[in-house]
Amino acid sequence: MKKIKRLAILTSGGDAPGMNATIRAAVRTAIDEDIYVFGVNSGYEGLIAGDVMPLSRRSVSNIIQKGGTFLKTSRSESFMHKVGRKHAAGVLQEWEISDLIVIGGDGSFHGAHALFEEQNINVIGIPGTIDNDIYGTDFTIGYDTAVSTALDSIDKIRDTAASHDRIFLVEVMGRHAGFIALEVGICGGAEEILVPEATQTIEDLGRQIKDWSRNSKTSSLIIVAEGHKLGSANEIGDKLRDTINIPCHVCVLGHTQRGGSPTATDRLLASRLGYHAVQALKNGKTDIMVGWSNNQVTYTPLKETWEKKKPLDEELLKIYRILSA
Ligand code: F6P
Repeated sequence: MKKIKRLAILTSGGDAPGMNATIRAAVRTAIDEDIYVFGVNSGYEGLIAGDVMPLSRRSVSNIIQKGGTFLKTSRSESFMHKVGRKHAAGVLQEWEISDLIVIGGDGSFHGAHALFEEQNINVIGIPGTIDNDIYGTDFTIGYDTAVSTALDSIDKIRDTAASHDRIFLVEVMGRHAGFIALEVGICGGAEEILVPEATQTIEDLGRQIKDWSRNSKTSSLIIVAEGHKLGSANEIGDKLRDTINIPCHVCVLGHTQRGGSPTATDRLLASRLGYHAVQALKNGKTDIMVGWSNNQVTYTPLKETWEKKKPLDEELLKIYRILSA
């Protein structure tokens, strides 16, 4: 067991529902282990600026149910450069902080890994992103809530699409990965799901839409992951209209998916990983991410979390093909 005296926590990158619950869990576990715990405001930007404050059990009261992150977050350009990271390490030294917990996605983990390698700061990553695109954990914090939020909208769009016999393209988030699209597509009974991992052409899509009307489908929903090779939902809608003469309505769900009260599943995952992050540091682990796979905690070297790619579930893809016809 390592003796840690002072530990800091920050949230970084896109916010995700459940980040607050994660901070709460890590802060209270640290205090339970007699560790002084500090919050860094606004992610790596705040760390470089020295925006650090002590946290107590009461600092994290009444936040488990809140979306966003009370510590605020940022996508820091300065932290991508060695000089920024050196400055950040200097701030941690001034506060006599030896260990740092970073809650975020793969960009945030790149930063944490560099801080460990260059500046010798002990770091643990906790996966917090709605995209679920991190290798080494079955789910990331925020994903389950984002899926529920998107699904709520999709069910509503289904009502109006059916009433008017319309085709809707619904764009969901997920820059490089189709996890949100695939899950909401299956759960919302979508006729088609366009994930970044697949390679349909506009002609394929046009043929499919014509088949639906031959099969007496009068309305349909096509879920588009924002990173699809054919472009955004608006661009795909324009192409369908202009090149194949198929009119579609478009709805972009956008940042609604990032907000809102976290689901029970996300709160539980957040509580578990916040706890395990502190335990991992105490056990001398560093430069790793704590995750949750097959119902147990996992430790993955930070580098692997972005170097290895988490694939979409092949069986789910097959199930959606059968059910959507
Ligand atoms: O990584 C999470 C995410 O919500 C992606 O799904 C999306 O592409 C991106 O962040 C949007 O980032 P921003 O809010 O900085 O525009």
